[in-house]
Amino acid sequence: MEQKETWGSKLGFIMAAAGSAVGLGNIWKFPYTAGNNGGGAFVIIYLIFVALIGFSVMLTEFAVGRRKNLAAVGAYKAESRSWTFAGVIGVLAGLIIMGFYPVVGGWALAYVFKVFTGLMTSPDMGAAFGGFITATWEPLIWMVIYLALNIIIVSKGVAGGIEKAGKVLMPLLFFILIFITIYGFTLPNAMEGVKFLFKPDFSKVTGSTVLAALGQAFFSLSLGMGCMITYGSYLDKKENIVSNAAYVTIMDTAVALLAGLAMFPAIFSFGMEVAAGPGLVFGVIPTIFSKLGTFGMILSGLFFIALTVAALTSSVSLLEVVVAYFIEERNMGRKKAVAISSTMMVIMCVLSSISLQGGLTIFGQTIFDVFDLLSADVFMSIGGILIAVFAGWKIKKEDLKNEVTSGGEVKFGLFSFWYAIVKYVIPVVIAIVAVSGIMARFETGKGPIMIIGLAIMAILAIFSRKL
Ligand code: PHE
Repeated sequence: MEQKETWGSKLGFIMAAAGSAVGLGNIWKFPYTAGNNGGGAFVIIYLIFVALIGFSVMLTEFAVGRRKNLAAVGAYKAESRSWTFAGVIGVLAGLIIMGFYPVVGGWALAYVFKVFTGLMTSPDMGAAFGGFITATWEPLIWMVIYLALNIIIVSKGVAGGIEKAGKVLMPLLFFILIFITIYGFTLPNAMEGVKFLFKPDFSKVTGSTVLAALGQAFFSLSLGMGCMITYGSYLDKKENIVSNAAYVTIMDTAVALLAGLAMFPAIFSFGMEVAAGPGLVFGVIPTIFSKLGTFGMILSGLFFIALTVAALTSSVSLLEVVVAYFIEERNMGRKKAVAISSTMMVIMCVLSSISLQGGLTIFGQTIFDVFDLLSADVFMSIGGILIAVFAGWKIKKEDLKNEVTSGGEVKFGLFSFWYAIVKYVIPVVIAIVAVSGIMARFETGKGPIMIIGLAIMAILAIFSRKL
């Protein structure tokens, strides 16, 4: 077994955890999911979940990971073998997300070049995007390049690769989003976009909307699948995980809201479609910048570079969950673990990318959508119940308190409140949201996919002792 790696510096950990959280989930998924789910009400429910559940689960995951200094599977297994499945479900969730995330990462990378090669003069950005993702080879080639970047970073190990990428380019993204937001507010009709984003109409809310908001919160914060457990396992005992969890949660949510504020005013101002789906950001950003000439072209280029980097710092964390499993639980070297995980990912990504060209569907959903639905709405939400039940009912309260407060050194006045939320509120709330959401998904034909997800989990739970 390799020597356990640790973070190079304090700032390194925060940046890496924030790097994992801030990614396509904030800038690509949040705006289009808000658009598809009617805006305001979805956004408010999402924010409530972030504050009530997201922060608490993140703190729980950091604590559980650091406690045994073991990644997703090991952290559960070291406590009790019958909990192994909870870690394995997380690893599988990581694998499933990596079955579509690099496809979108490849789109972002492609757009870095496209904005300089004619895209900006295209009369219809939506059609340009549609043409690109349904082309035979182009998206596949970009996806492979994107995955190769991941592999290079992860094979270099934790401190070396992931930290550097996170530290340098995250702030750039933030500044570009602020610039777009300010510019967007000067456009006619901008306030319509702000209203759409924040003015709730609860009459349209269904179980499906609520589950989508929960899934979005988990996906965006990288929770419910062991990623933050894994990152916590590389963490020093003295580090204040309470404030770290708070910073990361706030940063991630701020970026998502900023992405929404950057996009919706322009969407309304230019009369674009709010429910444009996964193509939303790829249509809106070039449209906004096409009005600004060469300066706009350069800013678009920078935007997509920053988006690609934000995506990379997230996908390396996903890959790391899978890789850490092979290293710790299967006694592999890092190189071999990376090789095996990435081979699986290439196969899944090729399938999900091709499925967007039409034809390749399961119960009427493209493979791309199947992976997307399975991960956020099934695996991660149930993963959230599992980590909360594990921490609340399996670990001794005193032990948990010791871990969270670094043996009493870190002040955490709300410990009992947090503990009660983890132990009682989170499992019950997620269970209710999941059941009503999954039932509502049957009305839109997505029910069978949900059942497949639950069945996979059940099978894993039964055979987990062998894993
Ligand atoms: N949080 C990342 C994003 O928003 C995605 C992610 C999910 C990363 C789960 C790691 C684990 O893009």
